[in-house]
Amino acid sequence: MELRTIRDADLKNKKVLIRVDFNVPLKDGVVTDDTRIKAALPTIKYILEQEGTSLVVMSHLGRPKGEKKPEFSLQPVCKKFSELLGRPVKMASDVIGNEVAEEVKNLKAGEVLLLENVRFYPGDESKDAAVKEEYSKTLASYGDVYVNDAFGTAHRAHASTEGVAHFLPSYAGFLIEKEVKFMAPLLENPEKPFVAIIGGAKVSSKITVLKSLARTCDTIVIGGGMAYTFLRVLGHSVGKSLVEEDFLDTAREFLDAAKSAGVKVILPVDHVAAEAFDENAKPVYVDGYDIPENLMGMDIGAKTVALVVDALKSAKTVVWNGPMGVFEFASFAKGTEEVAKALSESDAITVVGGGDSVAAINKFGLASKISHVSTGGGASLEFLEGKTLPGIAVLVK
Ligand code: 3PG
Repeated sequence: MELRTIRDADLKNKKVLIRVDFNVPLKDGVVTDDTRIKAALPTIKYILEQEGTSLVVMSHLGRPKGEKKPEFSLQPVCKKFSELLGRPVKMASDVIGNEVAEEVKNLKAGEVLLLENVRFYPGDESKDAAVKEEYSKTLASYGDVYVNDAFGTAHRAHASTEGVAHFLPSYAGFLIEKEVKFMAPLLENPEKPFVAIIGGAKVSSKITVLKSLARTCDTIVIGGGMAYTFLRVLGHSVGKSLVEEDFLDTAREFLDAAKSAGVKVILPVDHVAAEAFDENAKPVYVDGYDIPENLMGMDIGAKTVALVVDALKSAKTVVWNGPMGVFEFASFAKGTEEVAKALSESDAITVVGGGDSVAAINKFGLASKISHVSTGGGASLEFLEGKTLPGIAVLVK
């Protein structure tokens, strides 16, 4: 997948309209995780280094559903953004309207303006093509060139992520370029052996990614809540563990298909279980596949971790999506932590995508030891599922 990137763009003396994903967590009006803001800085700095450029920045924050809700204002994000960029950033009065048009018009070379939350108006997410087009055209009127660096929102076909690209010369920023550089080979030609570690609570939300990765990987580790549905299919007792009865056939079909394709599937061979889904529940070690009637699986055990570590020894590429257990609860975080450590110590190309596994990598302070930690939650999952991301499709050469 070859993208038009900002390196291909003539930016001299241009007003550049950029879409970023500054949908960051806030607490009491303060940004608590600035990873996504930092991730967009290389592109923003590059643009500002070009002669005579000014920058109009747009993002969403949360889901205000087309209404101006003050709790979703980008104002606190503007402060953090300016701090990290090391220069003033003007906060626009709104997203559309005469006042904003004036603020954009008055922007001088070297200046940066952050628009209010693009989701304050229904036009951004509208399914009505005419409404979306009108909003896209208004946003496009703010720039001479459009740059998209919002990987985290690339799976949304919104006015600000996709619509604008139809009305301006459009290019990918460095973040989107980097995300694609690491993720695309996983589905096309990964360096082998390729190990995929997939966790998370439900088979239903991960089956598409499992099938997609099974086309290119040599080994798939299945952990997290969904592992118990697979164990049940193989005839094991799983006690009170989460099982998706409606997905037993799907799970069985997947295991059969993986076997025929020569893909090795690793399922938990031991567990840390509990009597109840509770942070303070007493952890009980269960050796073997089977879980007693009164217990539910909450994490993978040490023998399963050892199998993962062993699989990673010869791996040249590893992708991880989804936690191995209920890592939010201290007593059931070890499996996820050990897998995160194994990834951080691996010589392979390591890619971590998806909100929870990224949160885990950050929680254990290992992000700097991973080749690529994706800024996308839903976007990286859809990418790994092999879906076309509309925000990226419009930037393909
Ligand atoms: C995310 O946090 O995954 C992105 O910012 C997209 O947000 P959305 O799911 O509200 O579109």
